[in-house]
Amino acid sequence: MLIRLIYLSRLVGSQSPELTDSILCKAQAWNTQNDITGMLCEGQGVYLQALEGERNIVTSLYARIHADPRHKDLELLHCESIAERRYRGWSMARVRLSDVDPETKIVWPEFDPYSVSGALVMARIDELVAAGQPVQAAST
Ligand SMILES: Cc1cc2nc3c(=O)[nH]c(=O)nc-3n(C[C@H](O)[C@H](O)[C@H](O)COP(=O)(O)O)c2cc1C
Repeated sequence: MLIRLIYLSRLVGSQSPELTDSILCKAQAWNTQNDITGMLCEGQGVYLQALEGERNIVTSLYARIHADPRHKDLELLHCESIAERRYRGWSMARVRLSDVDPETKIVWPEFDPYSVSGALVMARIDELVAAGQPVQAAST
């Protein structure tokens, strides 16, 4: 059974592209082997990640991610059974929230994902996907 899980976290320490690069490099390799797809949004000291895959695999991956000391204050925003993947083709796409094109009118700096519903956060993620924001980092 396939599920999609979305959570939010705050970085411990300062956000650096190198830290996310190194997380993504290993994550994409593992995710490819285990048929996990999704995206990792980063910006303003926050991570927002969507994970899709078989329920038992996503559950154990989320437990490992939850225990990772590189971030804190994890909040589970959304978890549902799905018929098909939304992030098919991305072993873990990357979205830099600070790079969002003003043309898309997506104003992330004014958007505090900790203070809104999971449904609204998902709608924002959909806007980013529609705007062509996600990029698969070069490691795969
Ligand atoms: C924000 C964030 C997102 C992560 N996403 C993934 C991921 O999609 N896949 C993955 O295998 N590891 C991911 N990791 C790394 C895991 O937390 C963990 O370090 C890795 O699975 C190795 O776990 P282990 O040291 O218990 O073997 C992520 C870490 C962070 C901080």
